[in-house]
Amino acid sequence: MTILVTGGAGFIGSNFVYYQLAKHPEDRVVCLDKLTYAGNLESLAQAMENPSFRFVRADITDREAVEKLFEEEKPDIVVNFAAESHVDRSVEDPGIFIRTNILGTQTMMDASRKYGVKRYHQVSTDEVYGDLPLDRPDLFFTEETHIHTSSPYSASKAGADLLVLAYARTYGLPVSITRCSNNYGPYHFPEKLIPLMITRALADESLPVYGNGENVRDWLYVEDHCAAIDLVMRKGREGEVYNVGGHNERTNLEVVKTVLRELGKPESLITYVRDRPGHDRRYAIDPTKIHNELGWLPQTSFDEGIRRTVKWYLDNREWWEHILAGEYQNYYEHMYGNR
Ligand code: NAD
Ligand code: DAU
Repeated sequence: MTILVTGGAGFIGSNFVYYQLAKHPEDRVVCLDKLTYAGNLESLAQAMENPSFRFVRADITDREAVEKLFEEEKPDIVVNFAAESHVDRSVEDPGIFIRTNILGTQTMMDASRKYGVKRYHQVSTDEVYGDLPLDRPDLFFTEETHIHTSSPYSASKAGADLLVLAYARTYGLPVSITRCSNNYGPYHFPEKLIPLMITRALADESLPVYGNGENVRDWLYVEDHCAAIDLVMRKGREGEVYNVGGHNERTNLEVVKTVLRELGKPESLITYVRDRPGHDRRYAIDPTKIHNELGWLPQTSFDEGIRRTVKWYLDNREWWEHILAGEYQNYYEHMYGNR
């Protein structure tokens, strides 16, 4: 089979490319990525040496380029990771989120209809459900939870999800959707909480915690997410949504302190800064459906995952130092300069 992976030069996409090449060596993997600030070809360096892998630089909203690629590759499965993914950037500039996340999804699905695919899989997020109160630990997001978004990012992802379900019902496109909680692991761009804290702590720089640090996220090691997507796109029921998460809730402060402990750095680096506007309080996934139907369970505990992640950032300094030397520095000044 040929698997077309969009956004494969990003964090989860690159991990997924490696997961596919290792788990299904009989399949061909084609990556389509625009290489925005978040896309990094260095993340795919090893994949580039594999004859079963092809990289194509293109924008998922570019209909002509997308159709040309479908014409050439006739993909059996399309997995759409490509997106603008950072909530804080969506607060600053929503336009590109609407364009890539919604119109890009439409373009990929139109091509999937035109050329015919066995499965169009949309990589979505638990953020489409909004947030849960901090004082109701008994509540979780199920696939039946109403869509109720907080940020332009999550609204754009929810818009895309609705469009995917509409294409299934209206045109019979064979779709599936996964909605996963917060990922962490190798190749995570250092604008997101965990890699930002690791890279700044290594430089003995202050660690900006939003508000009081009590917001809760449900963390999943990225390889476990890749395994879930692989299962759903191959064996999941058509037209269905599957939540993905491992019951691993932590406050942001707990996460930052864990990273500091792992690095042997002092908690005095923590600095409280102005809260994110509309900041979601708590995410918590109920993964019963994917467990019952497909037997998926996370394999990596948080302690083990954080150990592996910190080791990866220590062993791969070049990867993130190249990023920090580039556009990212301007970004940091812009976002945190007056915070
Ligand atoms: P990322 O920002 O690290 O990577 C996004 C990738 O998409 C980059 O390689 C970028 O170049 C590419 N891209 C962006 N716009 C494009 C366009 N117009 N055309 C082609 N390529 C484009 O994102 P990520 O964290 O790896 O997230 C991947 C997907 O998973 C996203 O759809 C996101 O919503 C979803 N998701 C992420 C998480 C998480 O914790 N990171 C959790 C659940 C779901
Ligand atoms: O839940 C899935 C989502 O997880 C994905 O859909 C998004 O693409 C992904 O970016 C992530 O969204 P979050 O907003 O939860 O991730 P982020 O790493 O930006 O922030 C995690 C928490 O840490 C959040 O409560 C905000 C807080 N935070 C973040 C940064 C960058 C800080 O306190 N300080 C920071 O500097």
